[in-house]
Amino acid sequence: MTPIALVEHDFDNDESLAIALAQTIAKYLRDAIAQRGHASIALSGGKTPRRLLQCLAEQRLDWSRVTITLADERWVPPGNPRSNEALLREALLRGNAAAARFIPLYVDTPTPEQGLAAVQKNVGVLKLPFDVVVLGMGLDGHCASLFPDGDNLQAALDPESSARVLPMRAPDAGEPRITFTLAALVQTRTLYVQIEGAAKREVFEHIVNGDAGFIDAPIRIVLQHSPVTAELFRSA
Ligand code: 6PG
Repeated sequence: MTPIALVEHDFDNDESLAIALAQTIAKYLRDAIAQRGHASIALSGGKTPRRLLQCLAEQRLDWSRVTITLADERWVPPGNPRSNEALLREALLRGNAAAARFIPLYVDTPTPEQGLAAVQKNVGVLKLPFDVVVLGMGLDGHCASLFPDGDNLQAALDPESSARVLPMRAPDAGEPRITFTLAALVQTRTLYVQIEGAAKREVFEHIVNGDAGFIDAPIRIVLQHSPVTAELFRSA
């Protein structure tokens, strides 16, 4: 199985990774603003990115020209500690970065299916391609909310899909989710993958090499469809 091409950046610890990735992203956002007048970024949630988001908030750039959204969201209100929007509001959308335009993936309906049309409308204002997409990964090989056993996985991984976002439910997801689809996520000028810790490093290596048992990992399928070479930021 052909390994997936990546530009690899290795770090001794999560702190130095977060600083370097934030600086790399900020430089790209500044270039995008200089060239096109605005920039867009889709960020992942979960536990890994908190430090990255804090470092990003400290970067000097014209945040009023940046549109920020999430790669995926748990279907919980922003007051819930599981909310990715809450993470972004706490860690990133403060100080100068509070001037950024944030496009949430959650609207106040009981289910993502009921909120889908409203979220589609919200994300419809984004001009794709994104300038930056940052993905994390779960140990099961999911990225965004593209879970291997997700009920909507086939549709969400369809490279021809015209849907930017879709609902997703999976046994390990915790709660219903909404996720950007593969077709939308790979419309990006730069793609970064943040992998921290020995367990994720090992799984990610199997996935990238296409080892038996890992060829269907959603993050592998996303990387295979990416027109740009992803940059891997990996710490010990
Ligand atoms: C989410 C994410 C998800 C995340 C991975 C890794 O909302 O959960 O966007 O794709 O990146 O699950 O999560 P951790 O960083 O918590 O391990």
